[in-house]
Amino acid sequence: MRCLVTLLGSILSLVAFGAAVAQEKPAAHSSSLQSFVHGAPDKPSTPWTLAAGGRIYDTWWDALDSKRPRETNPAYPSTGKRTGSNTWRCVECHGWDYKGKDGVYGKDQPMGDRYTGIVGIRGAQRIPPAAIVKLLRAAPHNYTPEMIPDDAMVRLAAFVRSGQHDADKYIDRKTGKARGDVNRGAGFYQTVCAACHGLDGRALNWGTKDEPGFVGTEAKALPWEVLHKMRNSHPGAAMINMRALSMKDAVDTLAYAQTLPEK
Ligand code: HEC
Ligand code: HEC
Repeated sequence: MRCLVTLLGSILSLVAFGAAVAQEKPAAHSSSLQSFVHGAPDKPSTPWTLAAGGRIYDTWWDALDSKRPRETNPAYPSTGKRTGSNTWRCVECHGWDYKGKDGVYGKDQPMGDRYTGIVGIRGAQRIPPAAIVKLLRAAPHNYTPEMIPDDAMVRLAAFVRSGQHDADKYIDRKTGKARGDVNRGAGFYQTVCAACHGLDGRALNWGTKDEPGFVGTEAKALPWEVLHKMRNSHPGAAMINMRALSMKDAVDTLAYAQTLPEK
């Protein structure tokens, strides 16, 4: 019995020690995490490749650990409201639902503040990968190999070609509600996401103290973005993704995440 108590005590202090270390160095990744976040496997699987491409679509400089452009992208139209680095992100012109002006970034749509009038990339699923790479190297895109190297371009093209999903099928556009099974999603959230985000989704905050960004906050306000990140992970972060699981698994998890506290 005493032995058990001592053992429990040392486990507890180990956990406490781990937490203290983690707090001191929040941003640094250990070498194994570094290879997970920015490296590539020797034999990349399809799920890995598609998720890696999805992170480039999100924020390529964080995904690739490359130089972030500061000045506004000359190709960004004056119809849009954004300036600076964001105007270089694929998602800024083409949308979290990949539908551009015809999706949630459309005028009078839920994310209409991001309106640019630019087409989506849903139609590009018909374009061969090599032609996708070619169009991204040419005007209006003009992405150079210094920005997105050739091997990363291949992953990005794979994502465009076969890594997208039809967001309207999984999220009700008017209400933003995920068309998923909350109870089934709880199983995924509590056993996977909670390891880092906490059981209530409030362990990590990417907002501020007054306006927190918790899993629950974001899942309700920006479900299209959260679904994309669940399928591909968050660029530059040591976060898992659900690419090897089914779309239903992700949508159910999103439905549960929408029940978590926003504050
Ligand atoms: C500043 C705005 C902007 C950004 C950022 C941007 N694009 Fe585009 N994209 C456009 C415009 C405009 C077109 C339409 C070009 C045309 O038809 O000539 C387009 C077209 C495309 C197409 C072809 C769509 C089709 O159906 O023919 C693909 C694929 C594409 N973009 C992918 C990407 C990817 C991947 C990224 C990120 C690396 C990206 N775009 C970043 C503006 C942008
Ligand atoms: C291994 C740890 C880990 C796991 C597991 C994990 N995440 Fe994350 N997640 C992170 C980290 C780290 C960040 C970056 C937080 C930041 O930017 O401060 C993040 C960011 C996010 C973001 C916000 C990104 C943003 O800034 O907009 C969302 C949403 C998210 N995670 C949802 C989930 C969901 C849902 C799951 C379960 C499918 C999950 N995460 C599992 C570590 C994890």
